[in-house]
Amino acid sequence: MYNIDEVRKQFPMLNNKKMQGKPLVFLDNASTTFKPQRVIDKMNYYYTEINSNSHRGDYDLCYLVDNEVSKARELVANFVNADVNEVVFTAGDTEALNLIAYGYCLDNLKKDDVILLSLSEHASNVLPWYRICELTGAKVEFIELENGRVTVKTVRKAFEKQRNVKLVALAAVGNVLGYAIDVKGITKVVHEHNAIMVVDGAQSVPHQVTDFKDLDCDFLTFSGHKMCAPNGVGVLVGKKELLDKMSTFHLGGGMNVKFFPSGEYIPSEAPIKFEAGTLNIPAIMGLGEAVKFLHELGMENIHKHDEELFDYAIKELENCDDIVIYNKDSRNGIISFNRKGVFAQDEATLLNSKGIAVRSGQHCAKMIDEVIGAPATVRLSTYLYTTKEEIDAFVNEIKNGGDILDAYFFN
Ligand SMILES: Cc1ncc(COP(=O)(O)O)c(C=O)c1O
Repeated sequence: MYNIDEVRKQFPMLNNKKMQGKPLVFLDNASTTFKPQRVIDKMNYYYTEINSNSHRGDYDLCYLVDNEVSKARELVANFVNADVNEVVFTAGDTEALNLIAYGYCLDNLKKDDVILLSLSEHASNVLPWYRICELTGAKVEFIELENGRVTVKTVRKAFEKQRNVKLVALAAVGNVLGYAIDVKGITKVVHEHNAIMVVDGAQSVPHQVTDFKDLDCDFLTFSGHKMCAPNGVGVLVGKKELLDKMSTFHLGGGMNVKFFPSGEYIPSEAPIKFEAGTLNIPAIMGLGEAVKFLHELGMENIHKHDEELFDYAIKELENCDDIVIYNKDSRNGIISFNRKGVFAQDEATLLNSKGIAVRSGQHCAKMIDEVIGAPATVRLSTYLYTTKEEIDAFVNEIKNGGDILDAYFFN
């Protein structure tokens, strides 16, 4: 296990920051995470020492940048156990999912084909598929949940009900209830029916070991900013044979070998053919540094830390009679709850007045009300630097309650 005090020292945002005049307790890590100094330094190194474009020049600085981008791709590939040419850099998880929708689905789905989702998916794993349905005549159907979870059994049932399923897209860990799915088991069922498995790893890749080859899913997506890396970079991991066949989405410089007055063009090989235009080089370098950092801490340790904090917080919250918890058994660093009779945003505003950052609402999963029967929740989410003391501070404020009007009017 890593030394959490040593780890926290590496994050400038954990250095005595205040919110509302109180010590900042940041419990919104499912939304985004803090960056360690070494990631910030890596980006600074780009801007202050090697600022130039990649794949474009014949001078030393460009070679240095090309090496950094290649190194980052290699680090990310090793981190999720994929081949280097299976890693496509995108602007984030959302762009990666859209890339699959437009690059793969437009060519491969047709009228009456089915895309299977769950009601607990994030907007980024719902709306691109609806757009594809509009464009192709395919339709979205939902896998029934069992106590808020997608399981191998519920996926099998969905396949019994639906013919023509061509693609299944699911979050490996949900961003409201934090339930993990059995990606490997579900992928097996999906493949038995000759469909494609898309895994939204936005909430799983930052928190647990991910082995793309072992999971055997066809596509995996995630965002850098939720795993200590900079904003504006994410990853699409795709099986090479699918990437090779898949159409490009963005067109422009860098992704083609040659184009002609006829309008035809010869695309570069995957993954480069998907990376049109100037890359977000400092963010990609920062992502490489972040995965090195996570690897050094150990993903098993990070996951264990999330589990311990989860158990600790649940034990405390269970003693609060007026608190309803929606995912007591998910153990993935996310707790969604409400105070009886209190609107979620009011609760989050009250906590803000005490220096505690949590999220309220539907967390971009805007069908989640159909799963939990509540219009919104307060969400606490931890990461590798969250301490038991921060959970204590949160639980104390939950136990103390307080007048919500104070939070709105008297600060
Ligand atoms: C499960 C899930 N999918 C997709 C996304 C979208 O990620 P991004 O906004 O970084 O593209 C998020 C972000 O919260 C998420 O939690």
